[in-house]
Amino acid sequence: MTDQELTPGGALDFSQASPARTYNALLKGRTAYAADREAADKVLAMAPDAQLVARENFRFAGRAAAWAVAEFGIGQAADIGVGVLDADIELPSVEDCVRQVDPEARVVAFDNDPVVLAHARSGRSYGRVLHGDVTDLDTVFGNPELGDALDLSAPLLVVLAAVLHFVAEPAAVMAELGRRLAPGSVVVLSHATTTDTETRRVAGMTKAYDNASSHIRFRPEEEIVGLVDGWDLVDPPGLCDVAEWGLPEPHDGQVGEHVRVVGLVAVRPDHHGQGRKR
Ligand SMILES: C[S@@+](CC[C@H](N)C(=O)[O-])C[C@H]1O[C@@H](n2cnc3c(N)ncnc32)[C@H](O)[C@@H]1O
Repeated sequence: MTDQELTPGGALDFSQASPARTYNALLKGRTAYAADREAADKVLAMAPDAQLVARENFRFAGRAAAWAVAEFGIGQAADIGVGVLDADIELPSVEDCVRQVDPEARVVAFDNDPVVLAHARSGRSYGRVLHGDVTDLDTVFGNPELGDALDLSAPLLVVLAAVLHFVAEPAAVMAELGRRLAPGSVVVLSHATTTDTETRRVAGMTKAYDNASSHIRFRPEEEIVGLVDGWDLVDPPGLCDVAEWGLPEPHDGQVGEHVRVVGLVAVRPDHHGQGRKR
């Protein structure tokens, strides 16, 4: 694909790495450009398992979303920070996984990267993707193109996979979600962590995004699980490596040696502190 195909007006900047395209490079997708591949190479120099962990994160998002839809009977989902899904990524998307459980489910994806949206519009990506910035939920739930596809008075599944580590104040995002979502809503969340990772590796991976359109922030596990304070954490498995969430056997120990992404699922309780019964 050429830049011109995606940017007839020439409005997109491919000279700077973007988190969406750098992740696409790690997943061996076809949508990364030189700056993105350079950032991905810097990540891989620090964490040779980053490609495997990226794939495990992608799988976690779909697996946990499908589990939540089956477990709680939620018929609608918002995948915020969906990334670029192209034909070279041979893994089922969140939307695919949710539809396997509930073919009628309404699934809408959002992202704030114009390239993600350009791909969706060009038909090179799959699924419905709208502009939305997770740090300003009016742009997500108030997007005029959304129409009545999502009903916030009913439980909603919100997927925040590997997106909050690009956000300076994730606790504010979670607090706002807690205010807007109906009781019984569920969040699927994953995040890169400093816990049990060498400091020099975290520093190197953080630096790899220095010139990117968003910076990455690794956080300790306590801070990540603290994002769902006031929600009912699904435990077991609680917060764990994405490769392990919801699987009967732990992974083989290779994934997560040099970089760790951890995941959780949590339910928004009602005003009396009651989550939906499992
Ligand atoms: C590492 S990718 C994860 C993609 C996908 N969620 C997954 O886990 O497979 C992070 C995505 O979050 C998006 N993103 C970063 N900051 C965002 C924000 N403030 N609002 C919405 N999306 C954002 C990026 O553009 C990118 O597509």
